[in-house]
Amino acid sequence: MSEGVRVGVLVSGRGSNLDALCAAAATPGFPARVVLVVSNRRDAGALGIAARWGVPAEVMPVSQYEHDEHARDRAIRDRLRQSEVELVVCAGYNRILTDEFLAAFPDAILNVHPSLLPAFGGGMHAVEEALDYGVKVTGCTVQLLEPGIPDGGPIVLQRSVEVREDDDADSLRERIHEQEWAAVPEAVRLWCAGRIRREGRVVRIAPLPGVADARLSQAESPP
Ligand code: GRF
Repeated sequence: MSEGVRVGVLVSGRGSNLDALCAAAATPGFPARVVLVVSNRRDAGALGIAARWGVPAEVMPVSQYEHDEHARDRAIRDRLRQSEVELVVCAGYNRILTDEFLAAFPDAILNVHPSLLPAFGGGMHAVEEALDYGVKVTGCTVQLLEPGIPDGGPIVLQRSVEVREDDDADSLRERIHEQEWAAVPEAVRLWCAGRIRREGRVVRIAPLPGVADARLSQAESPP
């Protein structure tokens, strides 16, 4: 098995982003590997995807903790720690995580959301809301999660998607998904390379060391 940053993925649904991340992780040189999937639904398609990639998966059903999200998130936190997870990726996870959980993995939880935040954040119907609002461009956002406002964390990267005249929620969601499948592995790659630098709530993507050096030597060389 390849080495790399140990990633835990939280899921609730189909798992296409998990699939994209596992596929990226299987390519030579990718700096991370998915070591654990936690699903809060027994019927999540993501569980089949984890099995296909040979990734251990744990079902921690939402019903078990219906009235105590603190107990739920402590159990998930402990399970992730048991697997020595360094980076958490929320890939279609349908619950808001407690501040205690978010504080347990500072600047180490990535979340993908199907809109260009801060538009249409904070809910589960961002694609429908974008259509109903009549925006002409929407997309996806990968952000760092931190205690505070849901979907209000620092933005790591965004990819845009044009809304077509004949779009319905399904067709638009599918094109947003396609962008997510590129964005999630890319954000993980940036995180693993230490290129996500925060200035307050603004994320700066540090240049690749080689690129920075090249620019510097150009600037320093005589005309
Ligand atoms: C994605 O659109 C993501 O932005 C949202 O939930 C969806 C999950 O899709 N949070 P999948 O389960 O990865 O296919």
